[in-house]
Amino acid sequence: MDNNSASDSNKKTWSGRFNEPVSELVQRYTASITFDRRLAEYDIQGSLAHAQMLAVQGIISNEDLTAIQRGLQQIRDEIRNQQFTWLLELEDVHLNIEKRLTALIGDAGKRLHTARSRNDQVATDIRLFLRAAIDEIIDLIRAMQHALLNLAEQHIRTVMPGFTHLQVAQPISFGHHLMAYFEMLKRDIERLIDCRKRVNQLPLGAAALAGTSYPINRELVAEILGFEGVCGNSLDAVSDRDFAIEFSACAALIMTHLSRMSEEFIVWMNPSFGFIQLADRFCTGSSIMPQKKNPDVPELVRGKTGRINGHLVALLTLMKAQPLAYNKDNQEDKEPLFDTVDTLTDTLRIYADMLTGVQVNQEMMRRSALRGHATATDLADYLTKKGIPFRDAHEIVAKTVQFAERKGCDLNDLALNELQQFSAQIEADIFAVLTLEGSMESRRHIGGTAPDQVQAAIHQARQWLS
Ligand code: ARG
Repeated sequence: MDNNSASDSNKKTWSGRFNEPVSELVQRYTASITFDRRLAEYDIQGSLAHAQMLAVQGIISNEDLTAIQRGLQQIRDEIRNQQFTWLLELEDVHLNIEKRLTALIGDAGKRLHTARSRNDQVATDIRLFLRAAIDEIIDLIRAMQHALLNLAEQHIRTVMPGFTHLQVAQPISFGHHLMAYFEMLKRDIERLIDCRKRVNQLPLGAAALAGTSYPINRELVAEILGFEGVCGNSLDAVSDRDFAIEFSACAALIMTHLSRMSEEFIVWMNPSFGFIQLADRFCTGSSIMPQKKNPDVPELVRGKTGRINGHLVALLTLMKAQPLAYNKDNQEDKEPLFDTVDTLTDTLRIYADMLTGVQVNQEMMRRSALRGHATATDLADYLTKKGIPFRDAHEIVAKTVQFAERKGCDLNDLALNELQQFSAQIEADIFAVLTLEGSMESRRHIGGTAPDQVQAAIHQARQWLS
């Protein structure tokens, strides 16, 4: 390929007024081409829209437009076929493409940059990139939600201990527990949809910072590129990256939710719990301890949450105290963003698959729920319904639990006369209340763990997804 030859590119696009070339180290330090070439498709898309507008407005000729379109198509093909030569000395994706375009089509290539700056160009590229990333992430979350619903549906009546402080609290449906994550992911999608509106605004036209004296038509460019509107202030358009920070915050929350689920999977896979098994393809063994099956994937999800949170802090810090308008600091927005998107999409993809291979040990869940006096609250509620103030009922049950502990059994193993020592109000109907199923069934309002309610929640969730 005789792309941008080195001799051609020794002279920087912007170096007209400079007396000496930058050192090799400074060149490497200031260049972004090693990572921003990933924006090439969006850069070309933006340039095609910009050129079309320039021609419609009579700022460039139709012949120039045709040449630019032909040149950019060829460059797109070269990039897709990995035949494009990226040059570090050409700094970034924008100058690499522009130089090649000029090599291919001559002066028309040089006219493409009329009424534009790399400042509004790069802001446009990132927004196009992020918009596509958001759409992909929403699809992946939805796929994960489908997998969650399928699993939850199988376990509407599977009893497990619900925890607070990781201590047995009250019996719940395993399906209900899973549906908690559906809700979190639903809010994650809503947040992304909202964030997308602010991402989907056009910076082009802001030029370097002040706008341009050419008779441009920004609405037309916005329409061609599918933006919902144009950025309302040229200085803001080229300089703020709040939309990227917002996206990062959305990503951090998604990972935070996944890290919670991961932590639970890790705990539940511990043989002392033994609630679930993950499919072997998500685990590894130990090179020294043959009995081990380690939950590597959930552990890594938990670990990678740290790096996504780190990227959010990096972007916030990058933006902090930057004077208006564009500063080169902003070049540092790309690597954190790219890594956030890559880590998140990989994680979601793997998670949806992992959920389909979760094996549930209902017996272990049940045994665990039976061990921790999980129905103590139900006994207190029973007494309250018989007229005893809740605080007194709480006290009575605490004493009863203490008695059961000393006896080495669970609350629902006590005989009626043993229970009656603590309150004469207790009658034979108490046993329906003290069973795991009885407790679970009794929480039958919206958002409660009664199987009918869980069924209804799953039904609603399916409707929301469709
Ligand atoms: N590579 C630069 C970036 O990512 C493009 C914009 C450069 N603008 C400038 N005035 N040097 O931010």
